[in-house]
Amino acid sequence: MASPDVLLKNEIQELRSKHDALILAHYYEDGAIQDLADHVGDSLALAQWGQRADNPVVLMAGVVFMAESVKLLSPGKRVLVPDLKAGCSLVDHSPYRKYLEWRLKYPDAICLTYVNSSAEVKAITDVCVTSSNAEKIVNAIPKDRRILFGPDRNLGRYLSKKLGREMILWEGSCEVHVLFSSRRLQELKLRYPEALVIAHPECDPAILAESDVIGSTSRLLDEVTNNRQRKQFIVATEHGILHQMQRARPDAELIQAPAEGSCACNECPYMKLNTLEKVRDALKGLSPEVTVRSDVQALARVSLERMMAITEGRPVEWPTTFKDPGLK
Ligand code: 13P
Ligand code: SF4
Repeated sequence: MASPDVLLKNEIQELRSKHDALILAHYYEDGAIQDLADHVGDSLALAQWGQRADNPVVLMAGVVFMAESVKLLSPGKRVLVPDLKAGCSLVDHSPYRKYLEWRLKYPDAICLTYVNSSAEVKAITDVCVTSSNAEKIVNAIPKDRRILFGPDRNLGRYLSKKLGREMILWEGSCEVHVLFSSRRLQELKLRYPEALVIAHPECDPAILAESDVIGSTSRLLDEVTNNRQRKQFIVATEHGILHQMQRARPDAELIQAPAEGSCACNECPYMKLNTLEKVRDALKGLSPEVTVRSDVQALARVSLERMMAITEGRPVEWPTTFKDPGLK
């Protein structure tokens, strides 16, 4: 008799075939969810796979803004999430009305918004970025234009310093990445002097200052996979990614960067809302489905498509000034 876990996975496989559904998972999901996905990736890769696939149904095991990106780029697809409550603190830190007020103060600037934002905020954005294409996008902005960057102040500050571009920053942050403790990281470095410290740019500057490699989740996974000289890595990002890292490098010792105190706070509570049961239920009932209002969709798509164009090396045009689109 098969175990309940095997029965559940079989059920998911049957439902996925029945609906010709594509299953996408972010690196921060539980290992069991990553293992049954068609693709596991960072925010940019997930959006690209979702857009390019022919499947009529896409299930995003990630957070809601990731599913919205797929919906915005492929409005004809039915995009499901296991749990609509899987939000993101950066989305919560950038409510539409406040972001609009900020945007209106600098109408001549080009507004860059991290994809970790709502569809409404993307609708008043000139170009979106993810942590893997942000440098390329900042470099594509004409040098004489002012830059607004939101909602992640740490990513913005990191880019501004690295690329030597001044930016007006929005004060938002990731509630998971800001919890890593630089004091405890310094102690770990003394204990593991041979270890390479790798960090996501959403971490505070004090953590980034202690890091050898800074990058998106896929960049950090590449480092662990390909840096064969190193056998120990201190990882300052969400715990779920250790699943792929350990699989790629069974010989390596992966040490999670600690938070202050003894909490499990380097787990994203939103990503961890997703479970295999909820994946099964979403495929069974074709719900919950992510929807975006048509007026928001039309505007938000422009900023995401501009991001995709620059990422793929295609030329883009920049608006000269910003006007309130009057969204209700
Ligand atoms: P990546 O695009 O690097 O996967 O980051 C997404 C995210 O939410 C990190 O907290
Ligand atoms: Fe948002 Fe942080 Fe979770 Fe990423 S880890 S989804 S930025 S709350």
